[in-house]
This record gives sequence, structure tokens and C-alpha cells, in this order.
Amino acid sequence: MGAKNILIITGSPRAEGNTNNLVKAFAAAATGAGHTVKCFDAVAADMHGCHGDQNCFKTGRCGLKDDGLKMYELMGWADVLVLASPVYWKGFTSWIKRAIDRFYVFASPKGHENCSVKESYLIAAAGNPDVAVFDAMKQEFDLVNKLLQFRNAGELLAAGLKGPEDYKEHMEYIQAAAEMGSKVGAEDAMSKVAFQGAHMSLRDLWKTM
Ligand SMILES: Cc1cc2nc3c(=O)[nH]c(=O)nc-3n(C[C@H](O)[C@H](O)[C@H](O)COP(=O)(O)O)c2cc1C
Repeated sequence: MGAKNILIITGSPRAEGNTNNLVKAFAAAATGAGHTVKCFDAVAADMHGCHGDQNCFKTGRCGLKDDGLKMYELMGWADVLVLASPVYWKGFTSWIKRAIDRFYVFASPKGHENCSVKESYLIAAAGNPDVAVFDAMKQEFDLVNKLLQFRNAGELLAAGLKGPEDYKEHMEYIQAAAEMGSKVGAEDAMSKVAFQGAHMSLRDLWKTM
């Protein structure tokens, strides 16, 4: 299993809240597994919304000169993208929404060359205990993956977390985040094994597992 570059874009204004603590558990486990993790705090970033002028479709670059440039640089470095957001009004927070809108440049053929991400994860927290609260967010996440050709590698949907410290009462979510982080790239290795299997005898295949 090769070491991956992981970019986590965070979108909660609560620095010590639920989402960011799930992110910490994910990042610590991923780092422990040998991956390199970098975070882009979309809340602290001075980043405008997409202007929709579609110039990026001609040039392959976004014309806005703000902290989005740093995000674009990281999207050209990362193999794996993690979007981490609380649910606000059933969807992503405005900070993550703004980051996603700025991904528009990567939907153009020229711009897509500047994005190295191959797979993505979603980490989300919501006050409502019913996981259906994530439906709209998941729809948008699916669209991002489809348009930008990312493989959806996993979703951690932590329902029933309202107060900033509610995660402390739900260690199962923290454990799930750590497990997710520790398994980044594992499926990749599995699919490579499966692919090799087509050219190998069954006996040889078992030896590789
Ligand atoms: C503006 C705003 C909108 C919210 N909208 C929803 C919502 O639609 N559904 C829900 O279950 N929780 C909603 N919440 C609650 C948050 O999702 C919840 O408090 C979450 O734990 C915050 O995560 P954080 O600690 O990572 O910031 C909302 C909170 C705020 C501040």
C-alpha cells in the first residue's frame, strides 16, 4: 500500500467542535499509517465565491487571486481529498460550499489536469439523530465525485451531535474516523490484488492476500 497525500478541507467554525475532532482522529490515524496529511481551513481562508465567468473553462485556471490559490495548489498535490463539514440547513456549511464552487475549474478539461485527487471521503456531523439529515449533503458530494472523477472512498456521517462537545459522548464516531484514516489506500491495494488476480492462478492470488 503506497503512502498517499491527503488534503482535508474543513468547514466548521467550531475549532474544537465535533467535525474537527473527527478530523483529528482521522488525520492522526492516517499519519500513523504513513500518509502525509495537510489541512485547508476553509473557514479561516480569505476565499471568494466563484464568480461564474467561466474563464476557467478557457484557461484551465481560476482568475481569483485569494486564498483559493493555496487550495488549488493543495488539490494539485493531493491523491485523496476529505471534505469535513457540519450540516447547516441540511447541506454543507457556506465555507465548504464556497470551496466546492471553486472546484468548478477542475470540471474543465484543461483545469482537470491541475487536480491530482483520485479519491474522496466525507466527514460530517449533524444535530439531528436521523441519518437522513445527510441526504442533501451526500447528493452534492456524489455530484462532486461524478463531475471531477473522484472515487467515493468512504463517508462518516455522525448524526445526533449538537453541542460542540457531544462527540465525547459518541466515541464510536471517533473510532470510526480513526479506522477510516488508518485504511486510506487499503482498498486501492485490494483492487490492485484483484486486478492482478485475472492474470494469476487462484493459488498464487491467495498468497498475495
Ligand atoms: C446555522 C446552523 C444550521 C444548522 N442546520 C442543521 C440542520 O439542518 N440539521 C441538523 O441536524 N443540524 C443542524 N445544525 C446543527 C449542527 O449540525 C451541529 O451543531 C453540529 O454538531 C455542528 O458541528 P461542529 O461542532 O463540527 O461545528 C445547524 C447548526 C447551525 C449553527
